[in-house]
Amino acid sequence: MKKMLLAAGVLTAMLASMMWALDEKQVSTKMKSAGDHMGGLRKAMGAKDMAAVSTHAKGIADAMGGGVDAFWKGMGMEKAAEWQVASHKAANELAAAASANNADGVRSAMGALGGTCKQCHEAHREKLADGTYKIKK
Ligand code: HEC
Repeated sequence: MKKMLLAAGVLTAMLASMMWALDEKQVSTKMKSAGDHMGGLRKAMGAKDMAAVSTHAKGIADAMGGGVDAFWKGMGMEKAAEWQVASHKAANELAAAASANNADGVRSAMGALGGTCKQCHEAHREKLADGTYKIKK
């Protein structure tokens, strides 16, 4: 029984890692979603609409999660992987503060989060002539 459970666990972990192996295009889609939710979050904060703040905060946390950490690790870009982990963590803190209706917590998590987005973009985001972006190693 123990062995079967172990085998099931290993299988689940394997499936999960396969499912979570994102490619560059999927990461780009998640980035767009993070950006859209970031805009929505700022507006919602301005309007003091905590329910909307919470929705957008969750959207950012989802966009930064679900395999993005593993993607950057897999790229072999050490700094980017660190910024990603910090960004993901700040996004989770943001979502937690928002669902706890803690506006000060949201503000401070937004600052931490924005810093990680910016650091990684300055180092690794390249804007192309057509206005789209690509990863710069
Ligand atoms: C680990 C590095 C890293 C972190 C952290 C990061 N980004 Fe990005 N982001 C990139 C790179 C590289 C690109 C360009 C390639 C692409 O679009 O995927 C990008 C592209 C984008 C784009 C443009 C997408 C497009 O193609 O139109 C937006 C919007 C964006 N990021 C928002 C964010 C926000 C908001 C955060 C923080 C919550 C964030 N990013 C955190 C690396 C990062």
